Amino acid sequence: MEGSRKRLLLVQAISGATFAIFALVHLGNVLLAPIPGAFDATASWLRPIYTHPLIEIGVMLVPLVVHVAVGVMLALGRRRRATAAKPDLWARAHRWSGWFLATVIVGHVAAERGIALAYGIVTGGPSVSFALWWQPVFFYPYFLLLGSAGLYHTLFGLSRAARLLGVRVPRVGARARPIAVGALVGAVSLAVLAWGGWLYDVGDPTDNDYARVYESWGFVELP
Ligand code: HEM
Repeated sequence: MEGSRKRLLLVQAISGATFAIFALVHLGNVLLAPIPGAFDATASWLRPIYTHPLIEIGVMLVPLVVHVAVGVMLALGRRRRATAAKPDLWARAHRWSGWFLATVIVGHVAAERGIALAYGIVTGGPSVSFALWWQPVFFYPYFLLLGSAGLYHTLFGLSRAARLLGVRVPRVGARARPIAVGALVGAVSLAVLAWGGWLYDVGDPTDNDYARVYESWGFVELP
């Protein structure tokens, strides 16, 4: 029993670390949004790499599906073992962020990559600006949570995976953790505000191919 749990933990660490390559690049790019034009300029440079079928399937899709599936198996195992010790707040936040991401990731990928593929358009930054204009009450907190949970889950998960795989990484001390998390949330907030047009002029959020797809579905009437 303990042997199979260890194997699952190893698979979880390796699949998570593989997907983290894309996640870190993507979220690093998200944090560039406060610089006018920087997100889309970097995305157009990166897009041919991360949409290459070998990368998209081998480094993103398969590791992500394996990572979530193993997470569910480990969680079910924990429920059965009544003796499992309760993890500290940081480890619990890592689990909560994981469940949140597992819930929303299919919708996020469908809305970005799915629509880009189905309609032959580039979604990019204008898709985020449109979403924030269209349904602000939902999308401001959604993108803030998506970015913050994504960064926290990826960075905490990588430090866990490193220790499991025997790689020495510096630990963030208990006192520095709230500051580090605050800095992450602050940086994501700035990115979301930038896309919402609060830091510089993002142009008309309704004048792009992405908004026109939603109009063609009858979800929105564009001005
Ligand atoms: C504030 C948070 C986020 C924003 C604003 C955001 C925005 C975007 C945008 C604009 C795209 C389309 C990129 C393009 O035009 O090529 C995209 C794609 C994608 N995002 Fe995010 N994202 C966020 C967080 C995340 C997180 C946390 C994850 C995963 C844990 C994630 C996973 C993906 C994936 C898998 C794709 C599809 C990449 C592809 O195969 O083309 N995103 N996102």
